[in-house]
Amino acid sequence: MKQYMIKGGQPLRGEVQIGGAKNAALGIIVAAIMADEPVVIDNLPQVDDVKVLLDALDGIGAKVEHLDENTVRIDGSTVSDVIVDDEYIRKIRGSYYLVGALLGKYKKAVVALPGGCQIGSRPIDQHIKGFEQLGAKVTIHNGMIDAIAENLEGSHIYLDCPSVGATINIMMVAALSNGKTIIENPAKEPHIVDVANFLNSMGANIKGAGTDAIRIRGVEKLHGSEYSIIPDQIEAGTFMLAAAATGGDVYIKNVIPKHLEAITAKLTEIGAKVREYDDYVHVVADKRLGYANVKTMPYPGFPTDMQPQMTTLLALSEGVSIVTETIFETRFKYIAELRRMGANFNVEGNAAIVTGVEKLTGADVVAPDLRAGAALVIAGLAAEGITVIDQIHYIERGYEKFDEKLRNLGAIIEVGDSDDERELQKFRFKVG
Ligand code: EPZ
Repeated sequence: MKQYMIKGGQPLRGEVQIGGAKNAALGIIVAAIMADEPVVIDNLPQVDDVKVLLDALDGIGAKVEHLDENTVRIDGSTVSDVIVDDEYIRKIRGSYYLVGALLGKYKKAVVALPGGCQIGSRPIDQHIKGFEQLGAKVTIHNGMIDAIAENLEGSHIYLDCPSVGATINIMMVAALSNGKTIIENPAKEPHIVDVANFLNSMGANIKGAGTDAIRIRGVEKLHGSEYSIIPDQIEAGTFMLAAAATGGDVYIKNVIPKHLEAITAKLTEIGAKVREYDDYVHVVADKRLGYANVKTMPYPGFPTDMQPQMTTLLALSEGVSIVTETIFETRFKYIAELRRMGANFNVEGNAAIVTGVEKLTGADVVAPDLRAGAALVIAGLAAEGITVIDQIHYIERGYEKFDEKLRNLGAIIEVGDSDDERELQKFRFKVG
């Protein structure tokens, strides 16, 4: 299995280009098949979850053509199947968007239940509630979500929780339903707004994305479009915290600073210097950072997808911090791995009490999921000695060229193979 080999202690310095937002891209590439004309999508992150979904679109007959590394043309006019089930689709969370797109366009969808990071129960009851309120009959059988509708009629839908996936899925179905739909208590993340803007670029009529209520007027059909995905808020935040954890000085380029405000505020609170410009931020940490209390909340609160990375940074800060995870039930699994590196934690329910230590030491660790994996990379970059991180396929699901971008900032990180001990021996010999 592929693994990262890291020699810590190098402050990150220089500049890094942020790619397109994974959690916008997954909704956008699937929504693209709702048009019967070609759609060109630019600034598409080259991450595994995107590749899995593009393969699934190809598998049901859509034409998928890569124009370059980060640009794809999708033509939904040739879709010939509404049944999607394969071992890869079952592993990713974003596969649930295939239900919304196929149900909205063909009034029928049979899609394998989604997988995704093991960070909680991750139900889909709010997705199903929205589909049913729009007129679909939804059953779960043989590991599949089966949705069918005679007609799709607009409805007034109140979400029990501001679910990102359910908000995007309901927007897709409502876009081609008859009449008006209102989604109350929707998610407001930047990627929700990006998917709404994309649907509108194809002729949908969606207003209020990013606010407390989204209003949708259904249209007959959607047309082709050319669209560029927003920068990835979480990739940007991850590099900001990596810069801070290593005492670095990094320009994080191609970002929307407003999307990073919660992260910038916390970094500033603990003593890092963050300067915001039009489309980049500059992070400098020239002293040991202090403690803070962090509570993950739906946007615009502190993002749950930045919780492991922030907790890791606080593990090195001076003082005691409390990190409360309010979105997912089991998003602290990585703490056992950080303890192997010398971190000092107590976990009480959904809160981690973090007593900062002067330094972490390198160790062999295992990535339990995507963002925890990124957090372990940050820990390895800051630690004294060598850290080997196994199961990096989780990390590759959401970060494009992660090791390459870090090397360009001065990190000593290479990809090895856990089945070939010699690679690690060569790395140890090379880095000393
Ligand atoms: C999306 O997951 C993201 N994934 C997650 O990012 C992110 O952590 C999450 O939103 C929150 O921002 C993708 O976009 C592919 P939710 P999703 O529905 O849609 C509960 C990453 O690292 N809920 O907003 O699954 C749920 O249990 C990944 O990129 C219901 O109760 O998140 C959770 O407690 C990890 N019923 C909360 O809502 C439902 O029907 C938030 O879930 C749906 C959700």
